[in-house]
Amino acid sequence: MSDHKPRVLATRLFPPAVEARLQANFDAVLNPRDVVYDADQLVQAADGCTGLMCAAGDALNAAAIARFPDTLRIIATFSVGYEHIDVAAAAKRGIVVTNTPDVLTDATADITLLCLLGAARRAQEGIDMLRGRRWEGWAPTQLMGTHVTGKRLGIVGMGRIGQAVADRARAFRMTIHYSNRRRLPPDQENGAIFHADPEAMLGHCDFLSLNCPLTADTRHWLNAARIARLPDGAIVVNTARGPVVDDAALIAAVRSGKLASVGLDVFDGEPRLNPGYHDLPTAFLLPHMGSATLETRNAMGFRALDNLEALLLRGETPPHVVTVA
Ligand code: DGY
Repeated sequence: MSDHKPRVLATRLFPPAVEARLQANFDAVLNPRDVVYDADQLVQAADGCTGLMCAAGDALNAAAIARFPDTLRIIATFSVGYEHIDVAAAAKRGIVVTNTPDVLTDATADITLLCLLGAARRAQEGIDMLRGRRWEGWAPTQLMGTHVTGKRLGIVGMGRIGQAVADRARAFRMTIHYSNRRRLPPDQENGAIFHADPEAMLGHCDFLSLNCPLTADTRHWLNAARIARLPDGAIVVNTARGPVVDDAALIAAVRSGKLASVGLDVFDGEPRLNPGYHDLPTAFLLPHMGSATLETRNAMGFRALDNLEALLLRGETPPHVVTVA
């Protein structure tokens, strides 16, 4: 029976409910030990497959895509970000690429606020003090951080996640500034102040949240020159993609006291982050877990499956096709 189902490679270990549906509908090739395949292993494992369910960090570069079997028709990534896939190379081979927008908006916005608050309120130092058994009791000057309520938040990238961050920040009575490729209509803007030039926004940001995709234009966008435009003592939060910031510049700015702190969930070259971050006691750092709730990861998997099933089982255009930028 399973011989007649299209063969789909799961490049990673996905949540049980997602793998159950994958196995029910496809001849699924699973990765139960969650080995992170290199390009050669991906090409080998994809042999005979018509679909690929992949994830952030997979080496789906032009060289790998050029060597995929002719049977491969779709690469469905279990992520909204798709910078790990050379979409142009896939298009050249007639391979459809899909992603999972919307379903991780809330979880990612939640973790953005966690990073913002964690960095502002020196949560990492507090946790370290407590767990290191060094807390000697409450003190009037202990771990004084940066006040959040009523401050100015600048958001770079006002897509779904940026807007969800703004919604949450309004509960802290923050004034929202944003920069985006296009200005939002008034109902979506909801009082946020638009800056056509993101550089002009920086001077207004007590907090800066990066919520833009990683593209050639945004790579290392937050560099030393732009950090210099932020007010002294500002806090930078990145839950988008690590390479949007220039690590050396960001680390230097925290070390010098130009920035009060940073709250980061993503890193250039993850999981091997710049070692300078380990030496910043105030930095609030998380291991790329913005979408890591069971509900969200299931929803991401189901969305990836919706894409695979549309094309491979029904011959329809998948609902979330990614196009070459
Ligand atoms: C996404 O979906 O892009 C998340 O960051 C997980 O990779």
